[in-house]
Amino acid sequence: MKKKINFKKRPIICLTSYNKFFAEIADQFCDIVLVGDSLGMAYYGDTSTRSVSLNDMIRHAKSVRSGVKKALMVVDMPYGTCKNPLLAKKNALRIIKETKCDAVKLEGGKEIKHIIQYLIKNKINVMGHIGLLPQKVQSKKDYKIKGINSAEKNKILNDLKNIQEAGVFAIVLEAVKNETAKEVMKLSKVPIIGIGASKKCDGQILVLEDMLGMFKKVPKFVKKYSNLRGYIKKAVKEYAKDIKNRKFPTKNNIY
Ligand code: KIV
Repeated sequence: MKKKINFKKRPIICLTSYNKFFAEIADQFCDIVLVGDSLGMAYYGDTSTRSVSLNDMIRHAKSVRSGVKKALMVVDMPYGTCKNPLLAKKNALRIIKETKCDAVKLEGGKEIKHIIQYLIKNKINVMGHIGLLPQKVQSKKDYKIKGINSAEKNKILNDLKNIQEAGVFAIVLEAVKNETAKEVMKLSKVPIIGIGASKKCDGQILVLEDMLGMFKKVPKFVKKYSNLRGYIKKAVKEYAKDIKNRKFPTKNNIY
């Protein structure tokens, strides 16, 4: 049965998560927890999201499901899983059945309107994703901001129109020039969740590991709220030092 998704609250707070423990924390503060295929880069260290398989997404989404109790849980349809309407439906239904997620997210605009329409006709909740499409880029250097000229702006607005007509309940707008993002906001009929888009978006999303400070280099749109990499390094260094100096294990750690 299709769950009715109706966001009245603004701003809509969203984060990604790839496992139960991070999801439990995100769930306390977020309206949407996305199991993103950024998994490939932010968890497995790959150079693009294209390496992520349907099985990878399902494995991680099952873990996230056990940590998400109140937020809406959305799972990305990974690269190659939505090549045509029938394949997209088969894969989306498998994701929903095995992970019990509330919705799936598809990257793309006008060219996938018919696929989105078909999923929605089959009672599958779909979130859209336009602007920069990570599944279209193959290496880190290809991550470039979109909507900087009128051709790109028109393409984004046309993608918006098409996937709105198809019936998405919300749209992720990624790495889009502020002026273009504002135009999107003027024309949007569904909530727009920005990542590197305008402050005026209905909501914001970031990759959790990015905002926790797990990586040295992150896109400009990321604000680091912690220094996870630094804390991990400090802890591992201390652990190694303790072992070297025979300070670990202590009497509290042995049986
Ligand atoms: O894969 C992902 O994590 C995403 C977010 C960046 C929106 O699509």
